[in-house]
Amino acid sequence: MIEIKSKREIELIKEACRIVALVHKKMEEIIKPGISTYELDQIAESIIRENGGIPAQKGYPSYQKGVMDFPSTICASVNDEVIHGIPSKRVHLKTGDIVSIDLVALKNGYHGDAARTYIVGEASSEAKRLVEVTRQAFFEGIKFAKPGYRIGDISHAIGEYVSKNGYSVVKEFQGHGIGLKMHEDPGIPNYGKEGRGPRIEKGMTLAIEPMVIAGKSDICELEDGWTIVTEDGSLSAHYENTILVTENEPKVLTIL
Ligand code: MF3
Ligand code: CO
Repeated sequence: MIEIKSKREIELIKEACRIVALVHKKMEEIIKPGISTYELDQIAESIIRENGGIPAQKGYPSYQKGVMDFPSTICASVNDEVIHGIPSKRVHLKTGDIVSIDLVALKNGYHGDAARTYIVGEASSEAKRLVEVTRQAFFEGIKFAKPGYRIGDISHAIGEYVSKNGYSVVKEFQGHGIGLKMHEDPGIPNYGKEGRGPRIEKGMTLAIEPMVIAGKSDICELEDGWTIVTEDGSLSAHYENTILVTENEPKVLTIL
């Protein structure tokens, strides 16, 4: 069931999203060669808490038996890591790396979710192009996040834009509705067919999140039970915002 949010709920989701946007603003400022992903995680957690929020990814349960809960505020996924990288004191960013930071803030019962891929120092033109295509894929997708379209229209637009640019989308993970829960209906794949899937309606809040691989679409999971990496070792990028569907253009809630 896809929840249509009330005015009150939308205000609460906006507030959670504002906190997520603040954290990303800080991440963009401080991501430099030498900083560890653990330091980024500590700073992200402080900003969320200073704003009366809770880091919703910290303690998030794995769907797999015997795998620890997610231990951190942010997911920090470097280079060939696609998503769900675990911050570490041992991982220091270096020039030329790309790092995807994904985080969810919870406040007054409601969630906001956004991810960005940051370039550390100077990157190759290929890395820069991957990051830019991933970001633009989101904006191609949300052209269809309006009443009158279906979820498949968003999925199709993202998938087509990515493949047209010579890259692959990840098939095993997808965007999602968001609100009282981090992951709500509908699932929003990054590939699909036009005119398929649930109808899009005013008052839906959706986390739309292209996950793009420079090489082949195959992925594997590391021993930690969380980190997803590309099978061919190629680079991967992630770009996500929480949006609100309105009568007209969607509102991107995680950009200030
Ligand atoms: N923020 C992620 C998403 O976009 C969820 C991360 S899984 C967690 O759906 F364990 F880190 F929470
Ligand atoms: Co996310």
